[in-house]
Amino acid sequence: MNEKIGVAGCGLMGSGIAQVAATSGFDVVLFDLEEDVLKKALSKIEASLKKLSEKGKLKEEPSKILSRIRISTDLNNFKEVQYVIEAITENEKIKLDFYRKIDALCGQETIFASNTSSISITKLASVTKRGDKMAGMHFMNPVPLMILVELIRGEKTGDVAFQKIQGLCKKMGKETIVAKDRAGFAINRILVPMINEAVWALQDGVATIEDFDKGLKLGCNMPMGPFELADFVGLDTAYAICEVLHRDLKDEKYKPCPLLKEYVDKGWYGRKSGRGFYDYRT
Ligand code: 3HC
Repeated sequence: MNEKIGVAGCGLMGSGIAQVAATSGFDVVLFDLEEDVLKKALSKIEASLKKLSEKGKLKEEPSKILSRIRISTDLNNFKEVQYVIEAITENEKIKLDFYRKIDALCGQETIFASNTSSISITKLASVTKRGDKMAGMHFMNPVPLMILVELIRGEKTGDVAFQKIQGLCKKMGKETIVAKDRAGFAINRILVPMINEAVWALQDGVATIEDFDKGLKLGCNMPMGPFELADFVGLDTAYAICEVLHRDLKDEKYKPCPLLKEYVDKGWYGRKSGRGFYDYRT
């Protein structure tokens, strides 16, 4: 019988994780609070699988892969899974409540992995009785295309569970790096200050948005310039991570740029809201 993974949260990251897990042969229970949202996520997964299939990147038909994903609004379906990968909203209180619930519900051997980009794994684990079976599993967007998963060890993460999570990533065709449980971990400790610095430089009038992006793409071979990337990641997300870095590392160099806050306050979150540093509404 296939191993079973519960994926919590069917946003961009959760649905991408469910897709990759099903593509790799796992049975998946994709959980979220509303049926409608889950159905939309499933259509997006289907479209992504179709695209990958047309490019000859899948070993099976998309329908076969999709048949391994069961959508559910009932958390009780997590009782039978070996792993829970949590990708719910990046809010500490909501995540803590969620972990309390699933800790009481899941089998003792079930391993929990959080896709958080900024919340301490040790903190999340503190509300469970399985800190040794919990780690961070930070996927990159877009999950089906990006090869890396950043793994984070919490204070109590045990070797056995950690090795299982490393094995899980391998089965999902991902490469891993390991980071300590410190603000921003390894990737966002570098990526987010880079985006923030770009906004400071924009605020200083050093160059235009288009020229910064063109410069970093053609001059440094980055696939997206910092402003395209900020719009892609979400300005609200970048701002929130910046605040965590500033607060936890207690260094003024991480202070979020006021211009970034201005954009976030206006609701200009990037691609997802139709407007960020670029306008996507046309
Ligand atoms: N599923 C299937 N296909 C997809 C897809 C998906 N989810 N997303 C994009 N594609 C397809 C596109 O449709 C396109 O197909 P086509 O060639 O048939 O038109 C193809 O992939 C290539 O995409 P694009 O033409 O849009 O452009 P690119 O060649 O630039 O590739 C990219 C897209 C891989 C996203 C590339 O731009 C890139 O690597 N960007 C940087 C991404 C990055 O840095 N991600 C990390 C963000 S940080 C993070 O996630 C951490 C968080 O905590 C903040």
